[in-house]
Amino acid sequence: MNLFDFSGEREEMDRLCEEIEAHNRRYYLEDAPIISDREFDALLQRLQELESLHPEWKRSDSPTQRVGGGLTERFQTVAHSRPMLSLDNTYDAEELAAFFVRLEKALGSIPPVVCEPKIDGVAIALHYTKGILTQAITRGNGTEGDDVTQNVKTIHRIPLRLHGPNIPDELEVRGEIFMPKSAFHRLNDALKTQLQDKGLAEAEIQDQLYKNPRNTASGSLKLQDSSEVARRGLDAFIYYWASEMGRGQSHHQNLKQLAEWNFPIPPMVTKCGQLESVLQHASLIEGQRPDLPFDIDGMVLKVDDLSLQQELGFTAKSPRWAIAYKFEAEQAYTRLLSIEIQVGRTGALTPVANLSPVQLAGTTVKRASIHNADFIRELDLRPGDWVRVEKGGDIIPKITDNDTTQRPTSSRPYHFPDLCPECRSPWQQNPGEAIRYCSNHKGCPPQLLGKLTHFVGRKAMDIQALGEKTLALFMERLAVASPSDMYRLTASQILSLEGFQEKSVNNILDGLEQSKQVPFERVLFALGIRHVGETVAKTLARHFGSLEALSQASKEELLAVDEIGEVIADFIQLYFADTENRAEIEALEGVGLQFQMDPSAMIVQQGPLSGKQVVVSGTFTEWSRDEVTRLVESLGGKCVGSVSSKTDLVLAGEAMGPAKRAKAESLGIQILSEAEFKKNYLG
Ligand code: IVH
Repeated sequence: MNLFDFSGEREEMDRLCEEIEAHNRRYYLEDAPIISDREFDALLQRLQELESLHPEWKRSDSPTQRVGGGLTERFQTVAHSRPMLSLDNTYDAEELAAFFVRLEKALGSIPPVVCEPKIDGVAIALHYTKGILTQAITRGNGTEGDDVTQNVKTIHRIPLRLHGPNIPDELEVRGEIFMPKSAFHRLNDALKTQLQDKGLAEAEIQDQLYKNPRNTASGSLKLQDSSEVARRGLDAFIYYWASEMGRGQSHHQNLKQLAEWNFPIPPMVTKCGQLESVLQHASLIEGQRPDLPFDIDGMVLKVDDLSLQQELGFTAKSPRWAIAYKFEAEQAYTRLLSIEIQVGRTGALTPVANLSPVQLAGTTVKRASIHNADFIRELDLRPGDWVRVEKGGDIIPKITDNDTTQRPTSSRPYHFPDLCPECRSPWQQNPGEAIRYCSNHKGCPPQLLGKLTHFVGRKAMDIQALGEKTLALFMERLAVASPSDMYRLTASQILSLEGFQEKSVNNILDGLEQSKQVPFERVLFALGIRHVGETVAKTLARHFGSLEALSQASKEELLAVDEIGEVIADFIQLYFADTENRAEIEALEGVGLQFQMDPSAMIVQQGPLSGKQVVVSGTFTEWSRDEVTRLVESLGGKCVGSVSSKTDLVLAGEAMGPAKRAKAESLGIQILSEAEFKKNYLG
């Protein structure tokens, strides 16, 4: 046998491609997987291994592209084969009737039309050559768009290769890429947790969250890192066969053919003969709107017969053979009953509107968020006003307009309260920020509850027996006013509260006791210093080694730490300048919390990897990923997630991602295997 004969591996690669795509289809299209996720991952990993050994055999339709990994530095602008037009819009049945009159005038009779939901996403053109996806182009200006092929390949329901008879050599289809509501909420939930960990106020968090699935889909499609696109969970529907080769004369039939080749076709597509049935179908689609897993904003009508389409032709902007019947935005007018000021955990005072109940996209809305006091002034909102509420991409409904003509004559301008409604302290505003904060940071009940809840949280002191309800009770009944007060509670004090038995009391006391072993970096995070989130706390703890050293650090010393900027440095200094904070720290130290780093976890200032950025990838035989990270850090290096021109060294374990390796190679970065690393740095 020839030792260099890899043809078996090439066959294996082909086989794996087919097999994995078949499993993908079962999973994503038929919802009927026949292997476990683990087995699937093993197949994919094997294919990745073979592709990194034989990159020249990697197929452009390989399912490994679904997980992304490739980077696009700049998206190429490419011309569309035929313009990507938009659609004429109508908003009511009368305008729709006028469309039918126009059709009748032009054609002599009303032709059958196909009705489809209008997906609220981003238009895309997909090109297939001999059944293989070769290019995906955004709409751009309609004449040319961006080539986003790598990113689009991560969308599981878009076929990379077509299966079945009669596939034309050249095929262009068009459709809409969208972010399912569930993926959008998942993304926002994760971002919210991150921002909360950073200690941001609720109103600031609301400002930074993704606004709606459509914009998020559009932004995701333009991300440079395709593996991040893969994680975003985008999806697509195809609604138009644009090229001529092999295309039939009926749009409806064409969609059927596309479905047979595994293209995802929108649900609720139907052929109607007259206006009445079109309107019926529109009500059906609109009725389904709140329950659909993706956003739609109307229904599209298309003349079914392509020869009639040709006869009708185009205006400069849109086809004459199609029209969008737009549903009302998910908005409604209702009475503003009152404005209430809520106090968040950071002390942010957020106005909330109480509304006369109104139906909005299938749910009853009684409350809506109002951004901040400036917004009240801008719209001159007053109780009694007739306001417009909108559901922005399904998040919390918000007030978007005020119809002042409907205002009762007795109304007076709204006066934002001068004092915090919870503790009657005056509020303050940071320069340049619209949000107002209650100034009583230590004593205002919601702020204190927020602080205590943060302190016992999973990523902080992790005292699971203490939840928000219990903490609120401790504050109210046992005068707990700081974390150190909790450690001074006795069993009999807690037992005196209603609903507490010996077992739950023991759990609480055990939890408090165990928290005394929580390492310093998490104690530092638990203190809740503004802008000192989980990661910053870790960095500071490892750098300074103790709370004592951190509290005495000058601004310059703080700024010299990686990732610490002016704002964080200022907040740290402000925190330690406060006498009450210092007294609380002393009390917590007296209780026995860890205020020093375990020396083995400290960052080594001088070591063979000092000042070096290291990317760790793949799996290792001797160490877990956490152990490798600690090892690199103990040698003075810093572990970073992705390869860039700043990377100094890649530590490559087994099954390192092929894209990462290729990138490191192209940048000429040193790549060391586990054995080489041991020899060079530990030997
Ligand atoms: S047909 C020439 N069908 O709506 C064919 N468009 O406002 C034009 N859209 O640019 C497109 N769902 O991005 C068509 N079922 C559907 C659609 C749809 C959503 C989008 C598409 C179009 C925009 C026009």
